[in-house]
Amino acid sequence: MADVSAALSGPESLAAADPAPPCTLVIFGASGDLTKRLLIPSIYNMRQARLLQDGFQVIGVDRVERDDDAYRGALTEAMKSFAGDKGGEFSPGTLDGDAWGWVRDRLFYQVGDLGDAGTYEALNRRINGSCVFYLAVGARFFGPVLTRLADGGLMKEEGGFRRVVVEKPFGHDLASAKALNQLILDKMDESQVYRIDHFLGKETVQNLMALRFSNGIFEPLWNRNYIDHVQITAAETVGVEKRGAFYEPTGALRDMVPNHMFQLLAMTAMEPPNSFDADAVRTEKAKVLQAVKPFTAETVARDVVRGQYGPGRLGGKEMPGYREEPDVAADSTTETYIALRLMVDNFRWAGVPFYVRTGKRMTVRRTEIVVHFKQAPYALFRDTPVDKLTPNIMVIHVQPSEGITLNISAKVPGPTLHLGRVAMDFRYADYFNTPSNTGYETLLYDVMIGDATLFQRADNVNAGWQVVQPVLDAVEAGHTQVQSYAAGSAGPAAADALLERDGRHWLGLGT
Ligand code: BG6
Repeated sequence: MADVSAALSGPESLAAADPAPPCTLVIFGASGDLTKRLLIPSIYNMRQARLLQDGFQVIGVDRVERDDDAYRGALTEAMKSFAGDKGGEFSPGTLDGDAWGWVRDRLFYQVGDLGDAGTYEALNRRINGSCVFYLAVGARFFGPVLTRLADGGLMKEEGGFRRVVVEKPFGHDLASAKALNQLILDKMDESQVYRIDHFLGKETVQNLMALRFSNGIFEPLWNRNYIDHVQITAAETVGVEKRGAFYEPTGALRDMVPNHMFQLLAMTAMEPPNSFDADAVRTEKAKVLQAVKPFTAETVARDVVRGQYGPGRLGGKEMPGYREEPDVAADSTTETYIALRLMVDNFRWAGVPFYVRTGKRMTVRRTEIVVHFKQAPYALFRDTPVDKLTPNIMVIHVQPSEGITLNISAKVPGPTLHLGRVAMDFRYADYFNTPSNTGYETLLYDVMIGDATLFQRADNVNAGWQVVQPVLDAVEAGHTQVQSYAAGSAGPAAADALLERDGRHWLGLGT
């Protein structure tokens, strides 16, 4: 995990990262949304932070007929439109002409069909030396593109490195993920493959390791003796937008759980690795998922809640229900919300439930990890007006505002003993000059310098699917019902019941 955050946080930073070695970034899916909204802005941010040097270039590959100039023009328009737009992932106040000019001059375009060997031959003639191939295309193209790259000799590391970045969704279930991993490993070396999960580009997610392992006070408490349970939430206000065709066969479980949510789970629950070496970290993360108690048909029925948003009000506006969205079936049973109760059945976590939930069109956009500590003994307070103690809660805020809050009890000033809740609050923005980052900067930089710590190894991916496969099977067999929740709410009532059964409650999402 390279420390580019210092370089990205401005000229006053003491430690700037070294520029990445010169290379060509080939983007398959050059005209797509990911390229426009996240990859090219990240390249621009990296240039501004002096993380890219001469010898760097981008070749965008797509079927749309156009030349370099037209490609440059389209991306320049997109970049200009982001400037000042506060809502997006990338919203610079103004576009720095020098930095964008530098990137712009290094953008090239290659017309080509992804299934056509000629595309790869043409590409091969254009590149030499180190190269990163970024698969910013639909999952159905992963196998064919990887095969053509390998068979066309483009993965041979003769005059420099050759690496591929594979986006999600990595498979549709356990069998397809295993098949894709097998295909990759038959065609290239594991060290050439970077399976990306953009949640790992988020600063607070990376900070989890620093928080846990660099602070002497937390690690001794980070286990079943002191922690009662953990809640992991990724609530979104967006609906399915224009992605109905993708989302219908996917659903919240596949879209968010084996990847993003399990990354948060693994970072929270993993054992300290022997070092920050990529394989040491990835081994510990795989072990956490391998320790999750397998679901059975019975526990799926008891411990999993699937929801789908119906019409409702959000931000003062009427919102349609999921079934009224474009490209969605009128009787769709795809879940847009899922909550799971998981047990990490190992020595550290035995008996500590991990409640995981994620959903679209919820009341607020918030991703957080909430660690509920066990309560102190009440005995001392029995002859006081304090009728109950409230346990300590640590909230690790992943987004939108990044930071950590520790809730503790304190005496309310006055002659009698009353307790009040107070918060010890750390906000990234108060301490560090946090720039407008997409989160992909760190990940792209890491690929270029060959640091795979923040990327998934084949066994990490397989372990995630292994956990959710029995849930997919139960859904397939029609054994789970999808519960409706109003757009703008905190999810279905059954998800509250999941915790209430254990005498617990979700931390309110509030607004
Ligand atoms: C993507 C999912 O991987 O992550 C989307 O496909 C989801 O459905 C998104 O909205 C959430 O990412 P972020 O960074 O906006 O929290």
